[in-house]
Amino acid sequence: MTASIDALIPDAATALTDDAIAAHYSAGVAATWLRVNFVSSVDGAATHNGLSGGLGTEADRRVFDILRRLCDVVLVGAGTVRAERYGPLRVDEVAASWRVNHGLAGQPVCAIVSGALGLDPASRIFTEAPARPIVVTIGTSPVERRRALAEVADVIVAGDDELDVAALVSAVGDRGLGRIHCEGGPTLFGTLLAADAVDELCLTVSPLLEAGDARRIAHGELPEARALTLAGALTSESALLLRYLVRHDAPGRS
Ligand SMILES: NC(=O)c1ccc[n+]([C@@H]2O[C@H](COP(=O)([O-])OP(=O)(O)OC[C@H]3O[C@@H](n4cnc5c(N)ncnc54)[C@H](OP(=O)(O)O)[C@@H]3O)[C@@H](O)[C@H]2O)c1
Repeated sequence: MTASIDALIPDAATALTDDAIAAHYSAGVAATWLRVNFVSSVDGAATHNGLSGGLGTEADRRVFDILRRLCDVVLVGAGTVRAERYGPLRVDEVAASWRVNHGLAGQPVCAIVSGALGLDPASRIFTEAPARPIVVTIGTSPVERRRALAEVADVIVAGDDELDVAALVSAVGDRGLGRIHCEGGPTLFGTLLAADAVDELCLTVSPLLEAGDARRIAHGELPEARALTLAGALTSESALLLRYLVRHDAPGRS
């Protein structure tokens, strides 16, 4: 049986339907929007044995799938693609027709961020993709690899030595892909945060304590902490599914 998901904030409700969950995550979202989704243990681990899967609950997986319904493009770092062995990004038929009924393309585009381009053009993420993928890279990436990947994906060069996040957002926006849904990982999230490009963080707090030395959900340097506003909280079987908006108007705690 599917785990019941209940709402705490903004309005209490029990046993939410997929449509109600989609409405919860759609509230306040603009046509150009960058949402990031992560799962973490209560003590802040972003992985269990090197992967996120060991942290996710059934409710987290349900929300993970629903968030893919709501976007134009799923943005993901090459490290996550490699670690989590991403296959072709495809939503199921119910989600595809839901998307079409809500004015979206049947399938979201998958955009992979990679500096070194250690991505195999013959891998299923490219060859079986229902929508032509995008590879986002930087000017110093190997030209031969870039050429090989251009056979199976649109290659966007955003930045010379390092990723220019504004150029990335603008390039996908020019393709009509304004609603960006980032599935991680921590290196990419750190870069997006440093560029102040993130509008929303969806965070599942799984009822687990991991200890150890697992990484946190964001990695890298930030000039100052970012302030967040809690926009939503769902709960299911002791997990919290939180929706935070990044406050672009307020300085964070430095
Ligand atoms: N808890 C969760 O919800 C969650 C979500 C996602 C991932 N994870 C976990 O996170 C781990 C992977 O972490 P990660 O930090 O390596 O993930 P990542 O951010 O997905 O990948 C890092 C790689 O992506 C590319 N990349 C990311 N940001 C870049 C930038 N600013 N400029 C250029 N290239 C950039 C680079 O690829 P190249 O090396 O190809 O240049 C870099 O090595 C895995 O264990 C995964 O399971 C957890």
